[in-house]
Amino acid sequence: MSLDADAIFARNAKVIPGGVVSINRATDPRRLFTRAQGAYLYDHSGRRFIDYHAAFSPYFLGHGRSEIDEAVIAAIRSGQSLMGAGTTTWEGELAELLVDSVPSLEQVELTNSGSEATYFALRIARAATGRDRVCVMQGGYNGWHNDVAFNLMDPLAAMEGHQPGTPHRLRPFSAGMPSNQKDNVVAIEYNDLAAAEAVLGTGTVAAIILEPILQNIGIVKPQPGYLQRLREICDRTGTLLIFDEVKTGFRHALGGYQSVCGVMPDLSTFGKAVANGYPLGVLGGKARYMGLFATSDPAKRVLMAGTYNGHPVPVAAAIACLKLLRAEQATLYPRLEALTARLAAGTRAAFAEAGITVTVVQQASAYVTYFMDHAPLSWTDIARHHDMALDKRFRNLLADEGIFHFPLPTKQGSVSAAHSEADIDETIAATRRVAARLAATNLAAKG
Ligand SMILES: Cc1ncc(COP(=O)(O)O)c(C=O)c1O
Repeated sequence: MSLDADAIFARNAKVIPGGVVSINRATDPRRLFTRAQGAYLYDHSGRRFIDYHAAFSPYFLGHGRSEIDEAVIAAIRSGQSLMGAGTTTWEGELAELLVDSVPSLEQVELTNSGSEATYFALRIARAATGRDRVCVMQGGYNGWHNDVAFNLMDPLAAMEGHQPGTPHRLRPFSAGMPSNQKDNVVAIEYNDLAAAEAVLGTGTVAAIILEPILQNIGIVKPQPGYLQRLREICDRTGTLLIFDEVKTGFRHALGGYQSVCGVMPDLSTFGKAVANGYPLGVLGGKARYMGLFATSDPAKRVLMAGTYNGHPVPVAAAIACLKLLRAEQATLYPRLEALTARLAAGTRAAFAEAGITVTVVQQASAYVTYFMDHAPLSWTDIARHHDMALDKRFRNLLADEGIFHFPLPTKQGSVSAAHSEADIDETIAATRRVAARLAATNLAAKG
């Protein structure tokens, strides 16, 4: 029996506010996917889509990767359960794999999500420094909690009057946050070193938290020397540097983007690709900070707790995933980078033929098409120059062709180990047709 997507949405919306369990998943038009395998999603009508959304990017090895699923099934069959008392061999094994894989990790804690990991990272930073304020990036996303739920993809009008070298006006993206939360948060522009100097130079900021590449607004890369200078400013001002590698970690390299850029944060957070789609977050870093979770001085001890922390299902998935990445890293990462470069080049050529200006930005297996004439340096740059409406039409026309990107402007495309050259070439051919249609409608609109 074929399903009716609208009827199911209407039925779910009666018992789930808005019909989606994470507001970020709301799509226009509505989507009802029922199955995923490898590089493909299948919708309620059985239609196949080549998937570049990857559920906001965790599926680095593709959907339903057998080695991961079998490790999970084996863990359950062997009696691994949530013991909820003492330690387990599997959490120790995962912690060792993480510490061996990522350069700055001396110790780690396991959580259930990326948001929990960034929450605990900031709690540790406040305990370590005795300071309350934290600094976030305009356009960065570090989860849903009060400290970081500010200044995400603000409209240009809301940023009116902002001067480089100064903080942005704070704009919460949720109701229900304490009104004095703003006292503890400051938002600056990514790649604006003068703003970082000004804010951190006050000596009142516990930590600056940032995605080392802003990947929730596509791929906004650091200017040469930016992350290195942030490290220096943090050292000079006694501020902790936290890299939120929830999106960049394990996707750009086994050692995260920190191993690519060579800048060592004090703390880092991971999620998504670490367990290839199973729910796991990781917080780790220098032992002198992480040790605050277990110090014998009760006045200095930082609370870390969670009924499901270290659950054997995501832990088994992450162990299998890291073993696979470690075994195959020499060939896997270059292969995915080459596949993505082929896709980026094909996309550029398609739009050049159509006479539409785009800038395709790639980092390893992640890429995005900006409808503007340069690679952006910040969210403000995107808000000012990127054609959001054209981007949305591009995404929805691609979906009509069986190529799925999340239908929200600037969302990153993720290539996985399951994508083949044939998938990439099919995507390029579809992109060429879509670019021609966009050009035709642009001309018609102008004429
Ligand atoms: C960079 C970054 N940090 C944190 C998070 C939050 O992770 P989660 O959704 O697992 O809570 C996300 C999620 O998209 C993210 O991209």
